Amino acid sequence: MSLLITNLGELMTQDAEHRVLRDAAVVLEGERISWIGPAAGAPAADESFDAGGRAGVPGWVDSHTHLVFAGDRTAEFEARMAGELYAAGGISVTVEATRAATDDELTRLLLSRVEEATAGGTTYLETKTGYGLDVGHEARSARIAAGVADEVTFLGAHLVPRDWDADEYTDLVCGPMLDAVRPYVRWADVFCEAGAFTPEQSRRVLQACAAAGLGLRVHGNQLGPGAGTRLAVEFGAASVDHVNHLSDADVDALGASWSGGGAGTVATCLPACDLSTRQPFPPARRLLEAGAQLALASNCNPGTSYTSSMGFCVATAVLQMGLTVHEAVRAATFGGALALRRHTGDDVDGRRAVGSLAVGHRADLQVLDAPSASHLAYRPGMPLVHAVWRAGVRVR
Ligand code: NIG
Repeated sequence: MSLLITNLGELMTQDAEHRVLRDAAVVLEGERISWIGPAAGAPAADESFDAGGRAGVPGWVDSHTHLVFAGDRTAEFEARMAGELYAAGGISVTVEATRAATDDELTRLLLSRVEEATAGGTTYLETKTGYGLDVGHEARSARIAAGVADEVTFLGAHLVPRDWDADEYTDLVCGPMLDAVRPYVRWADVFCEAGAFTPEQSRRVLQACAAAGLGLRVHGNQLGPGAGTRLAVEFGAASVDHVNHLSDADVDALGASWSGGGAGTVATCLPACDLSTRQPFPPARRLLEAGAQLALASNCNPGTSYTSSMGFCVATAVLQMGLTVHEAVRAATFGGALALRRHTGDDVDGRRAVGSLAVGHRADLQVLDAPSASHLAYRPGMPLVHAVWRAGVRVR
């Protein structure tokens, strides 16, 4: 079955040439894009969809979320808005609620959050463990996440639970916990920050997880300067996330990680979290000038960023971080795919590329209720998602 989406007033492909087409069309064939170009030259298809001059962009690739949780932290949010600082300790409130939830409850909560993200135009999504923090609950979170999300990350090293010695807990993460989650996850992550894991503990986690064959990611430089970014680059992590407090050397290291022609460490910016925690925004322009690659992600979680709206993240990146609309949309699509190493289709498990619109890539596309993608920032907060296809299937 093929579908011709035609009469797209603007089509921001985010392909290798960064093409923005006018009066364009796309043909979806099964789960893949089979044709893309000027509407006047489009081939016939079994069905057609008239976009009415609206703009098309790739589906969002949300490369950083924490969706496997129960409970609520409104009180902590209110206290923060009244002047308290965010501290990692709040994670333990969610750990308690998550442990108390049944498998069915956790699955239902996760599904409804993914549905919400899809309605907002997200077509590819990573999520993490990290609210279980013992062997059984981390494995359960990983198993539930693997049944729902596109990519799953092991974040046993999110917080040292109460009553644990930090080094002994790190041993647990690197040993029995890693073994228990291993069948369900592709990635491992560590929160390298004062109040969470020290650089030495983080190094041990990254070493053990790399030895187990997992790809690496790091929560780094969120709340202050530190070793997170340095470690991420040293270990060849696919991404370092947050990057609010970077030194010049961190910025240069992230840029240099892309200089050899291979894939380096993506700097993943989480602007909704920065607003909610009142952290400075990442130095996005300096990172781009240094040759770094950027991703934008929602970081949807109950503590620091309770939104999965990638449109909101794009608007904030434009309005507050100084990115152009094209740069922000690229970071929220191709950048996320790069941070998940799904930007090409030649990955070991043979999946199609996501995050950009080109022949052979997965048919993940949104039509905006606007004549150009600029409206995402020009009309921030407005419901601009008109239609969404995920792997060729209309999901909204
Ligand atoms: O990415 N920084 C660490 N983890 C989350 C916050 C988790 C929470 O507070 O529940 C984040 O912001």
